[in-house]
Amino acid sequence: MRSLLSVDDLGRAGIEEVLGLAGSFLEVTRREVPKVPALRGRTVASLFFEDSTRTRISFETAAKRLSADTLSFSAGSSSLSKGESLLDTARTVEAMGADALVVRHRSAGAPARVASWVSVPVINAGDGCHEHPTQALLDAFTLARLRGPSLEGFHLAIVGDVAHSRVARSNVKALTALGVRITLVAPPTLLPPGVKTWPVEVSFDLDPVLADVDACYLLRVQRERLEGPLLPSLREYSRRYGLTLERLGRMRPDSLVMHPGPANRGVEVAAEVADDPRFVAVEQVRNGVAVRMAVLFLLVGASGRKEAVSG
Ligand code: CP
Repeated sequence: MRSLLSVDDLGRAGIEEVLGLAGSFLEVTRREVPKVPALRGRTVASLFFEDSTRTRISFETAAKRLSADTLSFSAGSSSLSKGESLLDTARTVEAMGADALVVRHRSAGAPARVASWVSVPVINAGDGCHEHPTQALLDAFTLARLRGPSLEGFHLAIVGDVAHSRVARSNVKALTALGVRITLVAPPTLLPPGVKTWPVEVSFDLDPVLADVDACYLLRVQRERLEGPLLPSLREYSRRYGLTLERLGRMRPDSLVMHPGPANRGVEVAAEVADDPRFVAVEQVRNGVAVRMAVLFLLVGASGRKEAVSG
């Protein structure tokens, strides 16, 4: 694996390798000094052309915990405003000594284009409606830790705007590879055109699936997309698909609620549910650092697993 642009780059064996290594790095993040010298002398650059809180900070924290130096590029304060292209921006950052580029872009395929222009590994940190592979890896890691280690037969409902969700796409690929049974829950207007070819079941209603699932994965309501021809209103969406306390009560007592963040309290998730111990979004974020350490190590590091977690 030279770059991580899609979950397809990994396959089941690759996913399991990342998750196994992330388990070792999670132990590192809990030490008094949560740092190892695995990437000392290397530089990881973040190129974010779209806003982010979790993914950006998580990658930068992961790089620092591996003792790498970090370079940070923000579209808002860059020479993009003077007309500089994505190509020239990527090559400029590579020329400053980056050993890997972590790229987020609103356009699907932008990280792959960058990977074709530079000679260092590129990690897709979310591209348009296409993929968000490290989000899926950290979700798989979280599920494996909380309800695994094996996820064979685990039943997950992914609820919301699947059509526009890079998180849903990557999660369907990663989790089905690990044996998870997935039911997509959305109105027909928010399902992707080719969903019949996906290895999933589909329900247009949330209520009938609640008692049958081991976890609900709530997708963020993208207000800019939902208000308009796809749905009558956010209120209507919330009434049919929002996870209320009453709906949570109809799920199994040991079931989980996941969310990639940022969450819209009162829309896809009621505030009381977001504060419930079964809502594990913070656990997902915490695990994300260890998972991204594993990805950076595998792509940028040259030493073996043993050396990666010592020191
Ligand atoms: N989950 C996720 O990608 O969040 P950010 O947009 O804050 O990075």
